[in-house]
Amino acid sequence: MSQGPPGSRLRALILAPRGRDSALAQSLLSQAGIDSGVCRDMAALVGAIGDNVGFVLLTEDAVRTADLRPLMACIAGQPAWSDLPFVLVTDHGGGPERNPIAARWLEALGNVSFLERPFHPTTLHSLARATMKGRRRQHETRVLLENLREGELRLQQMNDQLERRVQERTAQLQHAHDELIASIAERERAQEQLRHLQKLESIGQLTGGVAHDFNNLLTAVLGNLELLRKRVPANPSTDRLIEGAMQGAQRGASLTQRLLAFARRQSLEPRPVNMADLVRGMDDLLRRSTGHTVQMELDLPPGLPAAQADANQIELALLNLAVNARDAMPEGGTLTIAIDVATTGEAQDLAKGRYVRLIVSDTGAGMDGDTLQRAIEPFFSTKEVGKGTGLGLSMIHGLALQLKGALRLFSEPGHGTRAELWLPIADGSAVATSVEAAAAEQAPRRHITLLFVDDDYLINLSTASLLEDLGHTVIKAMSGPDALSVLQQGKSIDLLITDYAMPGMTGLELAEEARRLRPHLPILLATGYADLPANAELELPRLSKPYQQRQLAEQIASLLG
Ligand SMILES: Nc1ncnc2c1ncn2[C@@H]1O[C@H](COP(=O)(O)OP(=O)(O)OP(=O)(O)O)[C@@H](O)[C@H]1O
Ligand SMILES: [Mg+2]
Repeated sequence: MSQGPPGSRLRALILAPRGRDSALAQSLLSQAGIDSGVCRDMAALVGAIGDNVGFVLLTEDAVRTADLRPLMACIAGQPAWSDLPFVLVTDHGGGPERNPIAARWLEALGNVSFLERPFHPTTLHSLARATMKGRRRQHETRVLLENLREGELRLQQMNDQLERRVQERTAQLQHAHDELIASIAERERAQEQLRHLQKLESIGQLTGGVAHDFNNLLTAVLGNLELLRKRVPANPSTDRLIEGAMQGAQRGASLTQRLLAFARRQSLEPRPVNMADLVRGMDDLLRRSTGHTVQMELDLPPGLPAAQADANQIELALLNLAVNARDAMPEGGTLTIAIDVATTGEAQDLAKGRYVRLIVSDTGAGMDGDTLQRAIEPFFSTKEVGKGTGLGLSMIHGLALQLKGALRLFSEPGHGTRAELWLPIADGSAVATSVEAAAAEQAPRRHITLLFVDDDYLINLSTASLLEDLGHTVIKAMSGPDALSVLQQGKSIDLLITDYAMPGMTGLELAEEARRLRPHLPILLATGYADLPANAELELPRLSKPYQQRQLAEQIASLLG
């Protein structure tokens, strides 16, 4: 079916092959104001049918014998809006109600009007005009339908677009939701960690206070026991008793040292430490402590920068870690001690920067989540009663914090444990020796006059006795002002030994005043505390509490010798 633009002028087609029928029909239609075209036969008609055809006028004789299939196919193939009208001129019998053949035409052609001969020209005029009007309506419907379809199409497009936007937005919301959930989880984790650290902090404060008092008591106990051993006449049974008491007191002293370490109150002397040398120097001790079932491997690359740390305390920490590893490998295994340099971003336990790491790993039993979480709590131990104090890791943790580093533990049941001790890199990073030069084995026996200051009566008494026992003359003072008035009296004094933590005037304040009175007076600071101000101008030699007579003698010798 040929297409024509909608609204273009409609014309009629005529198929009336007999006699002058077609010429007559054409002229009658022209009188009604309708253009028309005459078709020679059925094939020409089918070829001419298109949108611009208003209706088809047929005579019955033209269709009676013709093959109607192409015409019917053409009718069936019309678009939805089109129902091409036919005007069938019948010879007799009229419309379908009286003519059964006409009923067949109705069925075959669909939209048919019947016009029976003979007819008056006006009948054809009015029928033709009415049919043309109907056809024009179809064209109007076509425009409406097309508009509707276009609208539908646009609606469909908008729907698709909307759906796409909804999907995009849903995906964005889902993403935002996931991020929110993740950040909530992260915040909860951080808060949990903070709560844990705060708990440790408050336990630390409590422990530190108790340990500090204990330390003073033990200083007195040890001092007096030492003197007792010298003064009581030699007798195997009393010697044994005194020896037992001293061992007990020393065990107590090492316990309080660990407590002070945990509470970050031990007195530290951070210096550049060559960690590789330190580990190598402990090789023998570590192998002996871990036993022959544990294979020890060292990974100590040369040329690493020095750590800013207290070598003695780090040695103690390493020994503790190695013993923990040994205990986790009762059947044997491998203990690896490695050193490297690592970098961290901003972290909760560590400032951003580069650190020297001491890494102690074992192939032992490992820890479950709960144990790992609690491992650094003081007194937390899974070992049998009497086997572990549960202070090893808490001490290392405290030490690490005090050195501005960190202790990090990684462990899984059955997969061993890895402990990392992060230590700040020393300024200038000069590689230093691991162990301090050993103090003189034997102090020279020179007799001097000492001014000894401690606010604790027991310590004052016992230390003075220890010093006197070494042959020195001791002037005792109970406070800073006390000591200053002794100095003002102009007595000859070779050495001032003062406690740090004293009410009213600290040991450092006293030292400053004392230097003003006597610029060249050697001063020794006795302390169980590390809370000395970091920028203390007077870099004083220190004596860690509790001390024994040998340490007193060594310090005096190294200051005055
Ligand atoms: N290398 C390790 N492998 C498996 N578990 C470990 C390891 N290190 C520590 N732990 C666990 O952490 C707990 C606490 O360790 P910590 O060193 O503080 O105390 P402890 O070893 O029990 O006692 P102490 O060190 O005072 O003798 C241990 O009891 C153990 O359960
Ligand atoms: Mg331990």
